[in-house]
Amino acid sequence: MKIIKVKNPAEGARKAFDIYQSALSSGVKVLGLATGSTPIALYKELTDSVLDFSNVTSINLDEYLGLDGNNEQSYRYFMNQHLFNKKPFKKSYVPDGMSEDHKAAAKQYDKIISEHPIDLQLLGIGLNGHIGFNEPGTAFDSTTHIVDLTQSTIDANARFFDNSADVPTQAISMGIASVMSAKEILLMAYGAGKADAIAAMVNGPVTEKVPASILQNHKNVTIIIDEAAATKL
Ligand code: F6R
Repeated sequence: MKIIKVKNPAEGARKAFDIYQSALSSGVKVLGLATGSTPIALYKELTDSVLDFSNVTSINLDEYLGLDGNNEQSYRYFMNQHLFNKKPFKKSYVPDGMSEDHKAAAKQYDKIISEHPIDLQLLGIGLNGHIGFNEPGTAFDSTTHIVDLTQSTIDANARFFDNSADVPTQAISMGIASVMSAKEILLMAYGAGKADAIAAMVNGPVTEKVPASILQNHKNVTIIIDEAAATKL
């Protein structure tokens, strides 16, 4: 793992921007994207830039079950607001949280991923070490699947909702095997709250108890972290 330490999220976003700029100039065609607080500054850098994504396909990690794309808390809405409305992509995929048959929707998403191998996958990390919505205990060979969110994740994401009771308890997420199939992975994490998860990911045993620890087995991973997130390394 290549670790880049930065002073703050703004510097992290600029470093990440450089990675996207060179990826695009080297002809990258498929970007795996993430939501959450962490990538917002990067998306701002991208939308403020002259980079052209009109030949790029994006594949997002996850979506809440039961929220459609017009719902302001949905990840489709988030992506439209922070990126796609300002930077049109050739095609953008986000898992379908409103399907009548979630298993079929998961299978369909795996087909999309296999038809569009991911060149560069962006990740955040949960306080419990999740990547995507792959919570502790998720099998390393998992593909797209339906997830029961842990209380830790529900609590962490409650800040985006009026009431914590409004946070969906289930999601559809790209699996760990799909994340690992990306040619290159960029994970960003900021703040002291992420320090334990970062230490377990980088130095802990590779275990399904810490989903992000599998990244130790990937050949091309870059991690951008601030000083607070790096304190336990
Ligand atoms: C988001 C996702 C999650 C987040 C993680 C960190 O699509 O899959 O794994 O990356 O929960 O979230 P933030 O950035 O809000 O701390």
